[in-house]
Amino acid sequence: MEFTITPLSAHTGAEVHGIDLTQPVKDVVQAQLNRAFVDHSVLVFRDQHLTPDQLFKAVGLFGEVFPQHNSRFALRDCPLVHYISNQDFYADGRRYIPGEGYHTDHSNAACPPKATVLHAVSLPDRGGDTQYVNMHLAYDELPQATKRRLDGLKAIHVYQSRHSARKLMELSSESRSKVPDAVAHPIVRTHPESGRKAIYINPIRTEGIVGMPETEALTLLADLLEHATQPQYQYRHQWRPGDLVMWDNRSLLHKANGDYDMSQRRYLYRIMLQGDLPV
Ligand SMILES: [Fe+2]
Repeated sequence: MEFTITPLSAHTGAEVHGIDLTQPVKDVVQAQLNRAFVDHSVLVFRDQHLTPDQLFKAVGLFGEVFPQHNSRFALRDCPLVHYISNQDFYADGRRYIPGEGYHTDHSNAACPPKATVLHAVSLPDRGGDTQYVNMHLAYDELPQATKRRLDGLKAIHVYQSRHSARKLMELSSESRSKVPDAVAHPIVRTHPESGRKAIYINPIRTEGIVGMPETEALTLLADLLEHATQPQYQYRHQWRPGDLVMWDNRSLLHKANGDYDMSQRRYLYRIMLQGDLPV
């Protein structure tokens, strides 16, 4: 191997050493990196300092770029790369903290992104960690009766669930026309590369469960979320300048923290990679 891997927790996350993402890699190394991504669900590359164009090229190692839904966050010179910032505000003047509350990205797409990549450009002195929970492990440790109950159930995902505590930024009419009204995805999905099952829910976008009364569905979804977000399923990433972190949306929920000094700028590039139809 031309790189080494250091696990960051017992079940989720690994640091990759020995790769400069501005340089081409051999096919065999590309295959090993893709395998490591599936095995660890979060890969961390330190000290990368890429331009948006370099980031765009680098993620080609792992797949095709997924067009993100809200074009207001697109970088002008490289529109498939978006930004995450704590310096944006809702129309009513409140500060917008992207990514608060556990979720999986863009699950309202028919084929949601398999991966999200963030690259740290500017960070606060402390805080602003990203937390991940491993939904394979959470599924494995469900009671058998719950697994049987979930078998065959599908959840309805929309851009903004009316049950979500967090409100997303409004879509422009142009963005809205490209986003499906609603899609149904299995609540238990099978990872297309590892074959492992995972709980696939998203409190920000899940509106209900197909064929189930609303109160019953919301209770079930809340119980699953409570189970899956227990500390034993978590890896918490503390950011360093130059970090490039990519994670598997098929295997994890994640959330950002708004627990830092908001006068300090937190700014990262974000790019996503196309995934398959969840089954
Ligand atoms: Fe997210």
